[in-house]
Amino acid sequence: MNIAEEIQRRRTFAIISHPDAGKTTLTEKLLLYGGAILEAGSVKGKKANKHAVSDWMEIEKKRGISVSSSVMQFQYEGYCINILDTPGHQDFSEDTYRTLMAADSAVMVIDASKGVEAQTKKLFKVCLLRHIPVFTFINKMDRSAMDPFVLLEHIQSELGIETYAMNWPIGSGKEFQGVYERDHRRIIAFHGGDHGMQAAEVTEGSLEDDSFVDVIGAHFFEKLKEDSELLDIAGTEFDIERVSRGELTPVFFGSALTNFGVQPFLEHFLQMTTSPLPRECADGELLDPKREEFSAFVFKIQANMNKAHRDRIAFMRICSGRFEKGMEVEHVQGKRKIKLAQPQQFMAQDREIIEEAFAGDVIGVFDPGIFSIGDTLCDPSLKVEFQKIPTFAPEHFARVTQKDTMKRKQFLKGITQIAQEGAIQVFQEINIGMEEIIVGGVGVLQFDVLEQRLKSEYNVDIKLEILPYQCVRWILNEGLDPNTLNLTSESKRVRDLKGRNLIIFANSWGIKWATQQNPQLQLAEVGNVQ
Ligand code: G4P
Repeated sequence: MNIAEEIQRRRTFAIISHPDAGKTTLTEKLLLYGGAILEAGSVKGKKANKHAVSDWMEIEKKRGISVSSSVMQFQYEGYCINILDTPGHQDFSEDTYRTLMAADSAVMVIDASKGVEAQTKKLFKVCLLRHIPVFTFINKMDRSAMDPFVLLEHIQSELGIETYAMNWPIGSGKEFQGVYERDHRRIIAFHGGDHGMQAAEVTEGSLEDDSFVDVIGAHFFEKLKEDSELLDIAGTEFDIERVSRGELTPVFFGSALTNFGVQPFLEHFLQMTTSPLPRECADGELLDPKREEFSAFVFKIQANMNKAHRDRIAFMRICSGRFEKGMEVEHVQGKRKIKLAQPQQFMAQDREIIEEAFAGDVIGVFDPGIFSIGDTLCDPSLKVEFQKIPTFAPEHFARVTQKDTMKRKQFLKGITQIAQEGAIQVFQEINIGMEEIIVGGVGVLQFDVLEQRLKSEYNVDIKLEILPYQCVRWILNEGLDPNTLNLTSESKRVRDLKGRNLIIFANSWGIKWATQQNPQLQLAEVGNVQ
């Protein structure tokens, strides 16, 4: 197979959901179809990363597990599929945001009894930023569910994306009969239990005659006919172009736990989703993934995945060409050539050294502390630099001091490295500098992780004092001295590690005041890092 063919058969997507909607379960079933794992339950210690902190720490200790499950590759019907999983706990959603930057499309899992939930909304916003196609899997139809029309309406009103139902549920909960596939005009019947790897029972037919009555009974048949007419008349038309622009989401109903509707979903999805997309460069040009020269960007850095080796792995998404083990590439931000010696790929629970990879794939390489999130690596002849990865405004802030003042150096090193990984954001008060360090996170659990990691990896004990701030904004005006701004007494002027000025506010009222009192002030909620 040549490079172009290899790239063409790749599909790289992220799965997003509010915790508990069924993301892990769906991922697991998809991997089962790909033969990447042999039994359910092997993807990850599911409960661990979404409940108690101690559980999360536990899984962090077993880095191998949580990381290997974050990028998974498998083959299915000639496709090479990369699933980018995202942490379930909302306190780590920053990680999810960045993962979405590396995906070409997203699968959004929604709990049929709950509809769109808070975390789904946040994550969806990132998909919007990227204009990537979003496919919706409405899960848990084997449980009592909201009315499917209401669910579609909910997606539309809450997320602002139009919907197109690819299949239609017949009943739900105890009365769930299966789904009607609109394109194939057939009913796939639900029997409860685990539909496993066996071929589902399918009845072809037409809503115009009675062929389905025997399968679902007269009552459900009448309802299905009615619903179907309503969908045809009132529903949005299917338009693949709009799907690829992220304006229309194809919706599938199913039940991941019982493995119902997963395979039809996978097959439709693979046909509709995109092969690796061109990537935007800093100068606005698009880089064709099928170019022969290798290029990639770092979207995630994870430290100490292997306790014994204290290693740090940089995950990069390949944007063009072919990667070969040991190849020499230009590290654009570091302004030097480096050799990518031990590239790894991750599959279910194992990581393995790989010989080659192609645009669309994600590889992990050992990072001796030289990479930052958003860095570009490329063939020296290519000379590209990819667009920066946005940093999202943290919502929780804490002042950090080290208990043992003798360990200042270790403390600064640790906190800077952890910030480089993107695990937390570090701010210094403008008029005080590194004397006082404020950390920001999307969730407070990030602080617990910081504390634990500084202790175990850098041998530094810290004192964390939660601060009463809620928002932060980057100052866009170049050359503006923050000290000249008229702000409420509760606002704090800070600088991030990249030297950009920001203001931390106690609440949104403070932001309003700042913009009213300083008409020239331009603030951004998203900071472009690196
Ligand atoms: P997440 O990754 O999105 O957080 O969700 P996860 O897959 O862990 O699923 C959350 C819970 O919902 C799990 O139950 C899981 O078994 C259940 N679930 C997922 N899909 C379905 C479905 O289609 N139907 C039904 N009825 N349940 C589903 P749990 O009790 O929290 O965990 P476990 O003890 O089953 O592992």
